Amino acid sequence: MRSIRHSADLRPTYESAKITMVKLNLGCGSDIKEGFVNIDLIKQQGVDVVHDLSKSLPYESGSVDFILASDVLEHFPKAKCHGILKDWVRVLRSGGQIHVRVPNIELICEKLYKNILPDDILIELIYGGQNNHGNFHYNAFTKATLTAAMRGAGCSEIARIWDSDHNSNLIGVK
Ligand SMILES: C[S@@+](CC[C@H](N)C(=O)[O-])C[C@H]1O[C@@H](n2cnc3c(N)ncnc32)[C@H](O)[C@@H]1O
Repeated sequence: MRSIRHSADLRPTYESAKITMVKLNLGCGSDIKEGFVNIDLIKQQGVDVVHDLSKSLPYESGSVDFILASDVLEHFPKAKCHGILKDWVRVLRSGGQIHVRVPNIELICEKLYKNILPDDILIELIYGGQNNHGNFHYNAFTKATLTAAMRGAGCSEIARIWDSDHNSNLIGVK
């Protein structure tokens, strides 16, 4: 008679199964994330793929599980933003998630108005550090305009919205 396998017997099989998720860190800069494909216009240590994000991502449609785009969407002119965001959502699989973080101009203006931070720091948050060609801001967002942009690009739901300092963070689901 065959013995009933103890549940612990199953563990090696489960652990050896290679469940790999494709995760992209777009406009990574020096914020290199382990387990992600780190992508940026500028080559520096830890960048896996040098790619201009104003061009289509070199991934098949529906082939990516998760996208992080932190402090990068504001680096594109308003007229290009929709097409770029749409391309990012294109590569996500159905149910895949995209986390977009952008400076929130409402929060920045509030801090400027209330003198919460020095003016030059807040102005830099709006226009970018401008210390290299990848560090200019061409667009600004509020929570409402970013939500609309993500929905317009094909996110079927916005799962979470929260503010951190002067930024808005939205997680969209395809
Ligand atoms: C403010 S940094 C954000 C870095 C990082 N994501 C973070 O949150 O700390 C913006 C990054 O976007 C990159 N970037 C700007 N324009 C880009 C483009 N057209 N294609 C790819 N990366 C770009 C810049 O090189 C820079 O590393």
